[in-house]
Amino acid sequence: MVQTISEREKMISAKIVEDFYENAYKEFGFGAQRKYPNEEFCRFMGRNFFHKSPEERKRIKILETGCGSGANLWMIAKEGFDAHGIDLSSEAIFLAEKMLESYGVAAELSAQNMCDLNFQNNNFDAVVDVFSSYCFSKKEHLLYLQEIKRILKPGGLFFSYFPAKQSDAYLFPKDSRFIDSDTLESITRENSPFCGQNYPFRFIHSCEYEQGLKNLDFDIQYSEMISRTYHKRQEVFSFVVIEAKKGSI
Ligand SMILES: C[S@@+](CC[C@H](N)C(=O)[O-])C[C@H]1O[C@@H](n2cnc3c(N)ncnc32)[C@H](O)[C@@H]1O
Repeated sequence: MVQTISEREKMISAKIVEDFYENAYKEFGFGAQRKYPNEEFCRFMGRNFFHKSPEERKRIKILETGCGSGANLWMIAKEGFDAHGIDLSSEAIFLAEKMLESYGVAAELSAQNMCDLNFQNNNFDAVVDVFSSYCFSKKEHLLYLQEIKRILKPGGLFFSYFPAKQSDAYLFPKDSRFIDSDTLESITRENSPFCGQNYPFRFIHSCEYEQGLKNLDFDIQYSEMISRTYHKRQEVFSFVVIEAKKGSI
């Protein structure tokens, strides 16, 4: 069944996230995000694409949804792939352009909402989500996955690095309100990593993510969980790392 959500609901939630990130990028510039690519994303690229020749790489279209200031995107472009990035925040897109320029490379960039993408069907060889689609509630995330399926070529790959329910931030939310069973309205507990992120923050179990993707006819290629600790090992934050292939019909 195709999930729908009202335009009004979509606008309200996107506005909260956009305002938060627009302000963060304006206030902190490149300091708002990491400057170098995510390690798990580098592994995904290694597993699937780094054996390709320079000629082949030019024809491989990779989109990062929620590309922020370009920390992953500059690597995609520098490695010779056809790089594309979108973000809700136009300030992020401005910074990503500068980041790419500083490495002497370019990408197609635009400000867009990733649950309503302005791309044709069957367009990309890979779509990557590095700690970005967690800003959606459960309902919106399903809409996002449907969009990803639409824009991926048959056999195309989806990579996601997503907060896991094993994280203390989810298990011990203190007085944060739940929007749905997976999603906190904001992270408020002081010792929690990402405290002060005042927008919907979703967590997932690997098996839930796998099932959600299987329901959309994706094949799971890779599913792991990584954890790191904070405050001398007193606080755990974990991520689901998942890679799935769109079926060929
Ligand atoms: C934690 S940052 C990660 C940025 C980048 N992926 C990285 O790894 O450096 C999350 C990004 O997702 C973007 N984002 C959140 N919701 C979005 C949406 N609905 N559409 C497009 N971008 C969105 C935010 O603006 C922000 O830049």
